[in-house]
Amino acid sequence: MSMSTSWPNPARTPYTARDRALIGVEHARQARAHFETHRRYRPTPLHSLPALARAAGAGTVGVKDESGRLGLGSFKALGGAYAVHRLVQRGEADASTTFVCASAGNHGLSVAAGVREIGGTFVVYLGHDVPEPFADRLRALGAEVRRRGGDYDQSMFAAQQAADDNGWQLVSDSSWEGYTTVPLDIMRGYTVLFDELAEAPTHVFVQAGVGGLAAAAAAYTRDRWGERPAIVVVEPEGAPCLLESARAGEPVHVEGSPTTLGRLDCREPSLIAYELLSHLADAFVTITDAEAADAAARLAAEGVSVSPCGATGAAGLLALDAATRRALRLDSGARILLIGTEGPV
Ligand SMILES: Cc1ncc(COP(=O)(O)O)c(C=O)c1O
Repeated sequence: MSMSTSWPNPARTPYTARDRALIGVEHARQARAHFETHRRYRPTPLHSLPALARAAGAGTVGVKDESGRLGLGSFKALGGAYAVHRLVQRGEADASTTFVCASAGNHGLSVAAGVREIGGTFVVYLGHDVPEPFADRLRALGAEVRRRGGDYDQSMFAAQQAADDNGWQLVSDSSWEGYTTVPLDIMRGYTVLFDELAEAPTHVFVQAGVGGLAAAAAAYTRDRWGERPAIVVVEPEGAPCLLESARAGEPVHVEGSPTTLGRLDCREPSLIAYELLSHLADAFVTITDAEAADAAARLAAEGVSVSPCGATGAAGLLALDAATRRALRLDSGARILLIGTEGPV
């Protein structure tokens, strides 16, 4: 028996001009033009998963495999590095700037790659639970790694403190009142992956930590393809900050419980992501760690290697309850898009 929760969003409303000003197709085109100048840039592959489609009762399931993105192992390669580029472009940073961020692993790698390109200095705060291979890869890209706190929120606090104390440039993938420019650029960077798609999906199952990727997916797809692609946000049951915030009608901090899905273990949503998803997401789903591991095994059986975090969207698809399936009109005509957000860790 699944312990999952499926919750169709009663507050779903159409995409507006205000949403488009935050994230839309035009932002994706700008970010893509930037990455197209990059020697390692290539669109990532979309693999079809016929066995998963059968198991889910869908017409087709495709997974965008982000494991090879810019040689950095995850879709996050499109975010932090783009925000660093934009800071330089706006004249707010240069080679003499020290950049700082907190990371569960992947975001830091992207910022490190961006900072390396411009020749700046970079300090990254990792929680004690972030696997050591991430620290090694960060150091290899020239970052100074500092271990602080048991979880992402605590390392985030340490990074903010360091930015305030030293006058460093914070590059956070989360946003809050008064801190939105950098995280918005990061989310606009993520939209490149959706801009690479040739065809409209009917449903997108997208995993969330602070919600930046899911909000980028929701806003971009609505601008390009209209209201039909249903957006389903999938979170670990141990860290359901977007589900609980949407239910509460405001961003809330969740206590949660331990989860092995480290990159999705966020207790507070990004403010901009919450604002977009609270009315653009069609449903919020939580899955167990075991369901994510099972989904990763199913993807591996069809030739796609991702971590359980990378397979969490697939787990959400399989865990959907019957009422939510009906509400989302998910049937044998559905063309499902999943994001394999990272390779094996
Ligand atoms: C592999 C992977 N998948 C998904 C996410 C979730 O992204 P977001 O925090 O923007 O919701 C992350 C975030 O770090 C990640 O590293």
